Amino acid sequence: MVDYVVYGRGCFDQLDEIIAPHRKDQAPMIFLVDHYFADNEAFKSRIPLRSNDQLVFADVSHEPKTDYVDAIAGRLREEFGTISGIIGIGGGSAMDLAKAVAIMMTNPGKAQDYQGWDLVKNKAVYKVGVPTLSGTGAEVSRTTVLTGPTKKLGMNSDFTPFDQIILDPELTRNAPKNQRFYTGMDCFIHCVESLNGTYINEFSRSYGEKAQDLCEIVFLRKDEWNEESDEQLMMASFAGGMSIAYSQVGVAHAVSYGLGYLLGTRHGIGNCIVFNHLQEFYPEGVATFHRMVAKNDIHIPQGITSGLTDEQFETMISVSLGIAPIWENALGKDWKEIMTRERLRKLYELL
Ligand SMILES: NC(=O)c1ccc[n+]([C@@H]2O[C@H](COP(=O)([O-])OP(=O)(O)OC[C@H]3O[C@@H](n4cnc5c(N)ncnc54)[C@H](O)[C@@H]3O)[C@@H](O)[C@H]2O)c1
Ligand SMILES: [Fe+2]
Repeated sequence: MVDYVVYGRGCFDQLDEIIAPHRKDQAPMIFLVDHYFADNEAFKSRIPLRSNDQLVFADVSHEPKTDYVDAIAGRLREEFGTISGIIGIGGGSAMDLAKAVAIMMTNPGKAQDYQGWDLVKNKAVYKVGVPTLSGTGAEVSRTTVLTGPTKKLGMNSDFTPFDQIILDPELTRNAPKNQRFYTGMDCFIHCVESLNGTYINEFSRSYGEKAQDLCEIVFLRKDEWNEESDEQLMMASFAGGMSIAYSQVGVAHAVSYGLGYLLGTRHGIGNCIVFNHLQEFYPEGVATFHRMVAKNDIHIPQGITSGLTDEQFETMISVSLGIAPIWENALGKDWKEIMTRERLRKLYELL
């Protein structure tokens, strides 16, 4: 779990004092910031750079890849040897990059070597997460999702969670409506998949029900977006992430990973594209989702797999079926008999 949590509007300005005790000799703090903020002078002036600290903009035009993690970690090792810590500021992509780079500062080899469960050997450098979009739960999770040469899979380990997170709802204020919806739906879908999975337990249920309720409040019951909505969605993301920490995601995520690997479809929108067609697995959740899409006037793309070759379908199917724990949570121990390659192909053809 994350060790320390600070929450509240404007709390981002406490970053300097929060990280101060973690500064080591001449080793810098690295601020890995979503490139969305690259031209935002007002925001940049709030980043507490001291002595040889570095501000690095994370290119998140694509979701994180293992070789990008290796490149950033390699550059930091070459320039500084060691660093005091890394502060990831941004959406799920920037936060995941920060977690992965922190791990690669203290573990040998390449990031791709650690895609899987409990492969990381050494404690990472000090890492802090500051979300600027709400929904992924990356701020609390024990994984960092990466696309590598052969798979799209997280580094799931006890060394992956942040040491500290700073939850400041004010930072999400300017998120565009569509992006906010897609990332928010990631949270809603985490809840549906966790609550309806075979791994469900009281820990996950307690957080999942609360998170789902908050998603429904902001996307269904309220008529306009306000400051309180940013606060509610930020806590939904936190609770949704806590829910899957002790369970797993489900069918939408498993299928969407295949899309992400082959077509580069982003996580939030990819989950929406898939979830839109999952009535047979999650009837209530999908009906609520359809109402949210209509109420918020959101466009969910269709037909993204039309024209793909057999080989491309096979690639997506293999990536998807490769993530056994997700399928086991979704469909039970006999999942291989239930989700055959043929059935999954039909599902991909619907998208
Ligand atoms: N580690 C986990 O547990 C976990 C869970 C779910 C998803 N993820 C990962 O999170 C990523 C998706 O994250 P996301 O949905 O937050 O989107 P994102 O981080 O990919 O960002 C989407 C876009 O929004 C921009 N952006 C960020 N903050 C903004 C703001 N305040 N205002 C306007 N634009 C802003 C980014 O620059 C980017 O262009 C994927 O890489 C996914 O794999 C990780
Ligand atoms: Fe997700």
